[in-house]
Amino acid sequence: MLMADVTATPEMVTDKGLDRVIIGDSTKSFIDGVEGVLEYVGIDIDDLARNSTFEECCYLLWYDRLPTTAELDSFQAEIRSHYDLSDQIKDMIKATPKEASPMHVLRTLVSALGNEDPECNDQEIGAEERKALRILAKTPAIIAAFDRHRRGQSLVDPDPSLNIATNFLLMLNGEMPGEQTARALDVCLILHADHGINASTFATMVAIGTQSDMYSAITAAIGTLRGPLHGGANERVMVMLQEIGGLENVEAFVKGRLERKEKVPGFGHRVYKAYDPRAKYLKTFAKTIAEETGNMDLYEMSSTIESIMEEAVGAKGIHPNVDFFSATSYYSMGLAIDLFTPVFALARNAGWAAHALERHEDNRLIRPRCNYTGPHAAPYVAIADR
Ligand code: ACO
Repeated sequence: MLMADVTATPEMVTDKGLDRVIIGDSTKSFIDGVEGVLEYVGIDIDDLARNSTFEECCYLLWYDRLPTTAELDSFQAEIRSHYDLSDQIKDMIKATPKEASPMHVLRTLVSALGNEDPECNDQEIGAEERKALRILAKTPAIIAAFDRHRRGQSLVDPDPSLNIATNFLLMLNGEMPGEQTARALDVCLILHADHGINASTFATMVAIGTQSDMYSAITAAIGTLRGPLHGGANERVMVMLQEIGGLENVEAFVKGRLERKEKVPGFGHRVYKAYDPRAKYLKTFAKTIAEETGNMDLYEMSSTIESIMEEAVGAKGIHPNVDFFSATSYYSMGLAIDLFTPVFALARNAGWAAHALERHEDNRLIRPRCNYTGPHAAPYVAIADR
C-alpha cells in the first residue's frame, strides 16, 4: 500500500492550525498567553500605550530599539514625505464602485502602489524597508480617500506636519480632530501594531519567504486580515451591538448564541487563555471615549456581554480579545464600521513589515506538506465516457 506522503519522516506532525509549530526566532513581540503579557522588543504594551507614539513603535519594531530624538525626527520626516498619493492612484480610487468593501479597496490599492515604485523588484533589504515605509505612509490616504469618494466628497490633501493618526483623521473628515481623539487613535494603532505570527503576519512571511516583494507580502496580509476569525471580528462586534439594540436584550442574545454553539465576535484567542492585555487597556479606554462622546449605552452593553461570557465560558479561557473593545472605541471616534478593519491594517503594517524584514535577513522558504488522502492509480477517463 502506498503511504500518504512517501517522504514523510517520523518527526513530522500533522497540525492543521499550526498551533504546535514554531516557525523560527523573532525579536519583535513577546506573548505570554497564560499570564496575559505582550511586549514589543521587550517593552510592555501598557508602557508603550501610555508613553509612546505609533511612529516610535514602528521604529522600535523595525530596528529593535527605541530611537533617539534625531532618529525619530528623521524617520517621521521620511514617512510624512510619502503621505500623498499619485494622481494615478487617486484616479483609481475615484473609479472604484462606491459600494466596494474598504478592505477589498485597500488590498487592491496597496498592490497598485507597487506598479509605480521603481524599487518594486529590488530585493535588497534597504529597498524593502523603503517600500514598507511607503506603504505605511500611504495606507491612511487610501482608506480616507476611498471613504470620501464613496460619500461623494472631494479628497483632502495630507498635512505633513501631522503624525499618522492626526493626519488620517484630517484626510477622512476634512477637519482637524480634537487632541484627545487623535491621541486615542494613536494609542489604538500602538495596541494593534504587532502580535507575533498571527494569520496575516504569517501570510506576509510566506510571501516574502519566496523572495517576493513587500507589496506582494502586504497585499497577502490585508487579504488575510479581513476574515471574521481574524481582524474582521471588530466590525462583527459592532454589528452585533447594533443587532442587540439595547441593554435589556443582551442576556437573551448572548445566551441564545452560546446555546446554538455560535461564537460571539470579539471573544477567544488562539494564544491568550488569560485576559488579552490589549483588551484590558482598551476596556478602560473605550469607557473614557464612550463617556466623552455620549456612547455609554454601547459601553454598558459591551460590559454586560463580557460579564455573561465570563460566567459562561471564562473558565475555558475565553475572554475579550483586542477586537472587542476596539470596536466601541472606533465607533465612538466616529469611524464608519467598515473602516475598523482597514484601520487595523494601517496599524498592523508595522508588524507585517517588521516580520517580513526579519525573515528577509534569515530566510527559508516556507513549504509545509499535507497528508494526501485521495486515491492512487486512478484511471484517466475520457471526457465522453464520464
Ligand atoms: N464565543 C463562544 N465560544 C467560543 C469563542 C467565542 N468567541 N471562541 C472560542 N469558543 C469556544 C469554541 O466554541 C470551542 O468550544 P468547544 O471546545 O466546546 O468546541 C472552544 O472555545 C475552542 O474554540 P476554537 O475555535 O477551536 O479555538 P481557536 O483557538 O481555533 O479559536 C478564534 C480562536 C478563532 C479567535 C476563536 O476564539 C473565534 O472564532 N473567536 C471569535 C472571532 C474573533 O473574535 N476573532 C478575533 C481574534 S483576535 C485577532 O485575530 C485580532
